[in-house]
Amino acid sequence: MKATSLIFIQLAVIATVNACTDANATAGAGGTCYCNACYYGTSADVAGVGYCQQCPTGTNSPASTTSGTLITSCTCNDTNSTLKSDNSGCVCKANFYGTPNPTAGGATGCTACPTGTASVTGSTAVTSCACNDINAALKADNSACLCKANFYGTPTTFGASRCTACPSGTISVAGSTDKSYCTCPDVNASLNSATPPACQCNANFYGTPTTSDASGCIACPTGTISAAGSTTKYSCTCPDTNASLNFAIPPVCQCNPNFYGIPTTSGASGCTICPLGQTAPAGSVINICKVALVSSTYILSVVSLIQIIQEKKKTKVNEPVRDADDPQIDLNEDNQVDQLKQVNLLNSLKYYFYFL
Ligand SMILES: *[C@@H]1O[C@H](CO)[C@@H](O)[C@H](O)[C@H]1NC(C)=O
Ligand SMILES: *[C@@H]1O[C@H](CO)[C@@H](O)[C@H](O)[C@H]1NC(C)=O
Ligand SMILES: *[C@@H]1O[C@H](CO)[C@@H](O)[C@H](O)[C@H]1NC(C)=O
Ligand SMILES: *[C@@H]1O[C@H](CO)[C@@H](O)[C@H](O)[C@H]1NC(C)=O
Ligand SMILES: *[C@@H]1O[C@H](CO)[C@@H](O)[C@H](O)[C@H]1NC(C)=O
Repeated sequence: MKATSLIFIQLAVIATVNACTDANATAGAGGTCYCNACYYGTSADVAGVGYCQQCPTGTNSPASTTSGTLITSCTCNDTNSTLKSDNSGCVCKANFYGTPNPTAGGATGCTACPTGTASVTGSTAVTSCACNDINAALKADNSACLCKANFYGTPTTFGASRCTACPSGTISVAGSTDKSYCTCPDVNASLNSATPPACQCNANFYGTPTTSDASGCIACPTGTISAAGSTTKYSCTCPDTNASLNFAIPPVCQCNPNFYGIPTTSGASGCTICPLGQTAPAGSVINICKVALVSSTYILSVVSLIQIIQEKKKTKVNEPVRDADDPQIDLNEDNQVDQLKQVNLLNSLKYYFYFL
């Protein structure tokens, strides 16, 4: 017992004199052994168990001045990297990407994510840097964030999204900065100014815009115009206000009834109105206007005829007052009026049959 104690004391004296038995520790103040630089833990000399352990590759620690230093006292040589969760080495810090440079003082192997993006610890590629604006994505060259397709605006670097969705039914390419970049998928349609705006067929088209494939907007017949937003072919009208579409296939503009000429596409009408009292059928190209006696005079004549018959029925037939010199002449004025009416009626009927 005595001998053992003596040996122990002797060893302790030797240890103090010859520094530490833990090869990776150095005696510090009061002769206590502390782990060397790039080591962590507790020296075997202090605890009797354990020993100083080497820091993970690519990390370093200062020479300890206390016992029981943790592995976290080992810091990565690349200042833009940090210890892996299993302490087995270094990885790039959050908001950096790449492979840490293990050599102290060298260039960092961890590159900062582009402005407005963030990455989790341990990211190795720029594609791991996600835009802080949830409606934005990295540009093709990874230099910055842009609003995603079908959104427009300038992405925020923090907080609520500044990329606004395009109006319903419209599309935009990635990187659109303004609402004007939101377009209708139907190439022959455009956004209207309603709230909210909607796609409508362009001017001179009619129909319902489609959201994919072929256009749902059909061009108006050649030579006709329509306002933007027209949905039926009946909205396609002739620019010449004195002309209308005919029923031909395809329909074309022709002068209205009682006009003649060739409709114009702008400016003054190319359709000249018939002289007063004359008519011409729709589509007259040259002046074929004729006196319009057909229906009106015929109706007048029939009315006159009925009147005369009724008058004859009502009143007694007037006795003729014979001219003394010429017995053919009736001097009774009422009878003369009746005769005149009958002559007019006869003329009217003649015209009527001419036009038939
Ligand atoms: C000291 O560290 C080295 C590695 O650097 C290791 O091989 C050796 O075993 C350590 N010595 C002790 C006594 O733990
Ligand atoms: C890390 O840095 C320490 C201290 O400068 C150095 O001793 C060590 O060699 C470095 N590690 C590597 C892997 O270069
Ligand atoms: C770490 O990243 C920052 C930001 O990118 C940079 O300024 C710094 O120089 C980097 N550290 C090293 C050691 O390169
Ligand atoms: C848009 O209209 C033009 C003219 O009518 C037509 O040629 C074109 O095919 C239309 N576009 C689509 C996508 O249908
Ligand atoms: C259509 O005809 C009428 C009657 O002749 C005329 O007053 C009008 O100006 C014409 N319209 C146009 C657009 O020229």
